[in-house]
Amino acid sequence: MMKKTILITGGAGFIGSHVVRRFLKNYQQYDIVNLDMLTYAGNLENLRDIEDSPNYKFIRGDITDTLFIEKLFDQHPFDAVIHLAAESHVDRSISGPMPFITTNITGTVNLLEAARKRWQDNPGSGPFHHISTDEVYGSLGEEGLFTEESAYDPRSPYSASKASSDHMVRAWFHTWNMPVVISNCSNNYGPNQFPEKLIPLVINNIKAGQPLPVYGKGENIRDWLYVEDHAAAIDMIFHSGKKGETYNVGGNNQWRNIDLVRQLCGIMDRKLGRPAGTSEKLVCFVKDRAGHDQRYAIDNTKISSRLGWKPSVSFEQGLERTVDWYLANEKWISGVIGGNYKSYYKSQYLDR
Ligand code: NAD
Ligand code: TYD
Repeated sequence: MMKKTILITGGAGFIGSHVVRRFLKNYQQYDIVNLDMLTYAGNLENLRDIEDSPNYKFIRGDITDTLFIEKLFDQHPFDAVIHLAAESHVDRSISGPMPFITTNITGTVNLLEAARKRWQDNPGSGPFHHISTDEVYGSLGEEGLFTEESAYDPRSPYSASKASSDHMVRAWFHTWNMPVVISNCSNNYGPNQFPEKLIPLVINNIKAGQPLPVYGKGENIRDWLYVEDHAAAIDMIFHSGKKGETYNVGGNNQWRNIDLVRQLCGIMDRKLGRPAGTSEKLVCFVKDRAGHDQRYAIDNTKISSRLGWKPSVSFEQGLERTVDWYLANEKWISGVIGGNYKSYYKSQYLDR
C-alpha cells in the first residue's frame, strides 16, 4: 500500500482516538497527524499508549481558524483527511448552538478549501473522509430504517450542523470533483466516551450512587455500535469507498433507552457485587429533551454488501468491555470532568 500523510481531525476525542490507534497499528507506511483543539471532549490520555510512535504527530489547533488551517496544509504534505473533529452532544447543542455552527460547519469548510487547493493539481490525492451521523436523517416512527437514500431531515442544532457539513462535502465533490467519501453512523459506545453520553453516564452514576436520568418515558430508541466496529468501517470506507458516495454504518442493534438502562443496572449489580435490583432503584424519569428524536436505526446493506463490513462485537460483549473499562479507569473519569464525579453530576443534571 502507498505511503501517505493523513490528517485525522478530532483524534483526541472518543471515536477519533480509536481511529488513530487502528491506523497506526495497521498501516505503518502512513504518517498520521492528529489535529485536535482539546475541547472538554478531547483528551490526550486517550492516546498515551501510542503517542511516541515514530509515524505519529499531535498538533493542537482549531479547525475554525482559517489561516491556521491554510498554514497547516502548507507545512504538511497531506494526501488524505479523516475528519472527525466536531461538537458532538445534542443536549449541549440545545443549551448553546453556536460552537456547533462554527466547528461543524465553518470548520469543515476550512478543511475542504485547504484540501481542495492542495489537491487540485494532484489527481492521486484523497480521500477526504467526512465522519457524520445518522441523526441527519431525522427521526423514525414505528417502522423502517435509514438508508443512504433517506431524505435529510435534521431536527436538533447538532444534527442540522452535521447535515449542513455533509452538504458542503458533497458540494465540493460535485463542483470541483474533490475525492470525498461520507459515512453516517449510528450511536457509538465504548472506552474513552465522555461521560455526558447515555452509556458512560449511566455506568458512572451507578458507581457514584447518583440518579439515572431517563428522559421522558425512556421509550426513545437508538441503534448502538461498538466504537471499534465503527473504526473498522471507517478503515474500509477510507480505503475502498467509492468517491462521492455515502455509506451508512450501524449495528442492527436497536434498544429502547429504558431497556438499555435496566440492562446496564443488571451488569453493574453483578460487577459490583450488589444484590440484583439495587441499581434500578436509581432510575429517575426526568423532563424530556426538547425535540427528542423518537428512533434512529440504520440499514447497513450497502456497506455490508459492497465492502464486506459487519459488526464483530456483540452488544453483550461490548457492554461488558465498556463497563470493565470505566470501572478500571477512575482516574480517566476524574481527569475529563476535572475532579469529583458527584459534584460534576449535580452541576450538569440536577436541574433537569
Ligand atoms: P467527541 O466529542 O468525543 O470528540 C470530538 C473531538 O473534536 C474532541 O477531541 C475535540 O477536542 C475535537 N474538536 C472539537 N472542536 C474542535 C475544533 N474547533 N478544532 C479542532 N478540534 C476540535 O466526539 P465523537 O463522539 O468522538 O465523534 C466524532 C465524530 O463522529 C463527530 O464528527 C461526530 O459527529 C461523529 N459521530 C459520532 C457518533 C457518536 O455516537 N459519538 C455517531 C456518529 C457520528
Ligand atoms: P445520547 O447518548 O446523548 O446520544 P444521542 O442523543 O446523540 O442519541 O443519548 C442517547 C439517548 O439517551 C437519547 O434518546 C437521549 C437519552 N438520554 C437519557 O435518557 N438520559 C441521559 O442522561 C442522556 C445523556 C441521554
